[in-house]
Amino acid sequence: MSTLVWLIGMAISFSVTMPVNACPPSDRAALLAFKAGLHEPNLGIFKSWTGTDCCNKWYGITCDSLTKRVADINLRGESEDPIFQKAHRTGYMTGSISPAICKLERLSSVIIADWKGISGIIPPCISSLPSLRILDLIGNQISGEIPFNIGKLRRLTVLNLADNKLTGRIPRSLADLSSLKHLDLRNNMISGTIPRNFGKLRMMSRCLLSGNRIYGPIPETISYIYRLSDLDLSLNRLTGPIPDSLGKMSVLGTLNLDGNLISGKLPATLINSRISILNLSRNAIEGNIPDVFDSRSYFMVMDLSYNKLKGSIPKSISSASFIGHLDLSHNHLCGAIPAAEWFEHLEATSFMYNDCLCGKPLKACS
Ligand SMILES: *[C@@H]1O[C@H](CO)[C@@H](O)[C@H](O)[C@H]1NC(C)=O
Repeated sequence: MSTLVWLIGMAISFSVTMPVNACPPSDRAALLAFKAGLHEPNLGIFKSWTGTDCCNKWYGITCDSLTKRVADINLRGESEDPIFQKAHRTGYMTGSISPAICKLERLSSVIIADWKGISGIIPPCISSLPSLRILDLIGNQISGEIPFNIGKLRRLTVLNLADNKLTGRIPRSLADLSSLKHLDLRNNMISGTIPRNFGKLRMMSRCLLSGNRIYGPIPETISYIYRLSDLDLSLNRLTGPIPDSLGKMSVLGTLNLDGNLISGKLPATLINSRISILNLSRNAIEGNIPDVFDSRSYFMVMDLSYNKLKGSIPKSISSASFIGHLDLSHNHLCGAIPAAEWFEHLEATSFMYNDCLCGKPLKACS
């Protein structure tokens, strides 16, 4: 027993007194070049970036404990960190991301998020960082295109470039990101079509492309992504019909296609699918609402407003297990609104601006 205590004691004092290898001078130089490209006027987050050992208390920097190579850059402009609390403000930073960052060959995550003012392009050399798992540059002013060979990053699990000023197309190679789980390109100015090979992204569970200028059809191959749980293609310029196969996906729970130019009929498969949040508002969807609701139909949100739906509200809707927020307004529906237990909480606004709907909560049918 006492030997064991002694051994543990030795081990602890040994590890404390052992000289810790500092980060390699080349990594330090790359970080300093990265810092030189940025200007952070308010908080002084780079003040700690002094001394030779960049692995030791440099704000936002983490090194691999064995190799002492820089592994993570984690700089968030919106953070609970004491630096921010003391200053009573969120972060603001200008400048651009220096290509020197690509010399940090062992980088596993690059998070430079919500600084509002960082501009310039994504250094194309970033696609040559073999260990990169997370690239998160949300909430800046980054422009230019997504590097065309981004698909080389076979370990990348998170690609978040939302809320920037990116232009150009989604590169074809993006579909080669075989580890990608989370893709967020929302609110940029990305145009072009959704690459037809998108279905290759077999690990993807969230795909958020809302608020861009993406046009063309929704590729049917998206439904091959069997882990996909959240698909947001809203506020783009997509055309053509909704593929039937989207309603047969095993875990798709959120489907937002609102604010596009989608036409064709409402696929019956969407009505009794796993989808519980469905927003198809502001498109050009026509025909009847399929009369196929059953106990599998469970919707927190079903927004079909501002389309060209006609006919009556199907009777089967009363056998849905739940519809929390229903919006059928601004269509061409007609006839009596069916009665259902969960209809009790619905207001007239859910049904207004149709051709001739009647009954509770609207005026009684005559
Ligand atoms: C559905 O999308 C429309 C148009 O983008 C939006 O105005 C509406 O708030 C969304 N509905 C719900 C319930 O979130």
